[in-house]
Amino acid sequence: MKATITGWGKYLPPAVLTNDDLASVIDTNDEWITSRSGIRKRRISHIDTSEMSTHAAREALATSGVDPKDIDFIMVCTCSPNRLIPSTASYVQEHIGAVNAGAIDANAACSGYIYGLSMVAAMIEAEHIETALVIGAERLSPYMSLDDRSTVVLFGDGAGASIVQATEGVGAIEATVIGNDGAFTDALTIPGSGSEANPRDDGVVAVTMDGAEIFRGAVTKMSESANAAIAKAGWDIGDVDLLVPHQANARIIDSVARRIKLGEGRAFVNIAEYGNTSAATVPIALAEAIEQGRVKTGDKLVFVAFGGGVSWGAVALEWGGSTEPKGSYVADVEPPTKTALEMLQDLQ
Ligand code: UT7
Repeated sequence: MKATITGWGKYLPPAVLTNDDLASVIDTNDEWITSRSGIRKRRISHIDTSEMSTHAAREALATSGVDPKDIDFIMVCTCSPNRLIPSTASYVQEHIGAVNAGAIDANAACSGYIYGLSMVAAMIEAEHIETALVIGAERLSPYMSLDDRSTVVLFGDGAGASIVQATEGVGAIEATVIGNDGAFTDALTIPGSGSEANPRDDGVVAVTMDGAEIFRGAVTKMSESANAAIAKAGWDIGDVDLLVPHQANARIIDSVARRIKLGEGRAFVNIAEYGNTSAATVPIALAEAIEQGRVKTGDKLVFVAFGGGVSWGAVALEWGGSTEPKGSYVADVEPPTKTALEMLQDLQ
């Protein structure tokens, strides 16, 4: 038994924050952000992580044609859950009516979805479960400080979801690679969050990042893990039809593509639109790649990511099923009453 992706979905909140919006309130400019990161816009969410997850999940259910009652396991990969208890996955379960599923959140920061996919693939291969819903979802905007121009310009909110099912046919997850180096815990972190948080303190709880350290680690580990997954699958780099990488910086993606000798135009890049949505970048990018006709049955894909921990991982899969959606879903969400910039300012 192997695991294959049969459904894909995404939810991007409607409020758009442009580089010029940011430049109107902090010392930055569109030229710096675009040339250093490739980011032009990002979304700021007016709904919480579980609601974004739910909409992405409903679209994945529609594209796969799977009945929510047939889902055995829900994993929400996030470092920005609604609450510490209960899991964000518990809300999703209730909202979609997946009454027969177990539900859990997993935090490997930006590598979360890769870890989640690896774990459910192993559960399917071991025949513990047959159908899983894996979501990457983040609402990191509450952890963005307008006092830190080096990080606030990079991150955005969003969610992506995949239905993963057992298959005996051709086309499946062929190899997974995961890794972590706890020596770099401080390189990308939210000090004062979680059990460190003291409700009596008035301090800023925001993402802090050693950008240069993370940049170096991302290029090295994304290249190494992509190569390792390709080798483990028994492929050659020339076999890979599409790389779907974590979208943290367009320059990181270019460097990885060069290092692994991927060749022109074989990496999917949508960072200009959404920025770094952490665990959500890969499932959002996958959904968009399919919508844009970049994935065909039999294609060999590699997903790869790097993030806080520091953590990394890659998945090599052959697209087994159809890329024709079985159904569609349009999220009916009450629009925000404020602009993206106003929402971000309110969160300070
Ligand atoms: O998902 C995983 C997590 N994230 C990442 O993988 C991101 C990894 N890191 C990066 O993408 C890059 O390191 C950044 C985009 C964060 C920074 O790019 P850089 O080319 O490494 O710039 P830098 O940090 O070396 O900063 C260069 C200059 C500095 O000024 P000085 O000291 O040279 O005068 C910064 O203060 O750019 C300045 N700067 C800015 N200027 C305008 C930093 N942020 C900004 C900004 N606007 N937003």
